[in-house]
Amino acid sequence: MKHYLTVNDIASLPDWVDEAINLKKDPYQFEGLGKRKTICLLFFNNSLRTRLSTQKAAMNLGMEVMIMNFGNEGWALEYGDGTIMDQGTSEHIKEAAQVVSQYADIVAIRAFAGLVDKEKDEAEEVINGFAKYASIPVVNMESSVGHPLQALADAITLKENETKKRPKVVLSWAPHPKALPHAVANSFTQMMKLQDADFVITHPEGYELNPEITKGCTIEYNQDEALKDADFVYVKNWSSYSDYGKVLSKDTNWTITKEKLGNAKFMHCLPVRRNMIVEDAVLDSEQSLVVEQAKNRIFSAQIVLKKILEDI
Ligand code: CP
Repeated sequence: MKHYLTVNDIASLPDWVDEAINLKKDPYQFEGLGKRKTICLLFFNNSLRTRLSTQKAAMNLGMEVMIMNFGNEGWALEYGDGTIMDQGTSEHIKEAAQVVSQYADIVAIRAFAGLVDKEKDEAEEVINGFAKYASIPVVNMESSVGHPLQALADAITLKENETKKRPKVVLSWAPHPKALPHAVANSFTQMMKLQDADFVITHPEGYELNPEITKGCTIEYNQDEALKDADFVYVKNWSSYSDYGKVLSKDTNWTITKEKLGNAKFMHCLPVRRNMIVEDAVLDSEQSLVVEQAKNRIFSAQIVLKKILEDI
């Protein structure tokens, strides 16, 4: 595999999930694979899980790890072709990507959506710029429109916790005070489309995700109806896609409570705002899988890095 940019780069979701679960049993079984190989993690935005789990995954494979908070410490990058760089940007993505390619064997990048200009966000200029100009594989650690390492970790968590062949999985919007990107919900939806599951998305009107991504999915605007008989409830906030980047509702009737959850398992990518997205009673119960999901971030990253290292 050359790059891991979207869920669509997964050759076979069931095989990768099984391999990741196997890796989890003996995380050091391929510790020679990454010997004398270096991964460079570039962060344009904050992180806890992605930063530490990707570093841990690389270390489990015997890799060296370099980390840079590019957003604060790097030169402001220019992405446009032929731009006269007489404004705020100091370095072009063309040079930056080629330079990083000489220092590392894999580069992983986190660069969120700005949520101001939909066209610009969908162009994914940071991650696609690196994929275009770097000569080494590029891994997406959450870009403007996708978080495929999270989605793969979620698939592992679903597999480990499913008690029936075709579970009902609900992706529910929940309120949040700030405008958040669509990346997690997008990649979760793309991943669920590869699963044998009864998958339902629920959100208030005006919060429809990109219709190209949700094409073929069941969308139910009544949250109570959507949650009926659910086995897993994956909760996430996102801002409006049609009224791009806007917060249209902070309606706490959408907050997930123990009563709403019923017997289902609760999932969230973290970080989570307690008693806004979900009440304490859910997070503090055995029905919550959020810490397991965070653990599985190691093994989603490790399976991706393993696939890449095998092809270098
Ligand atoms: N879920 C997730 O990506 O967490 P971080 O933003 O802390 O990396």
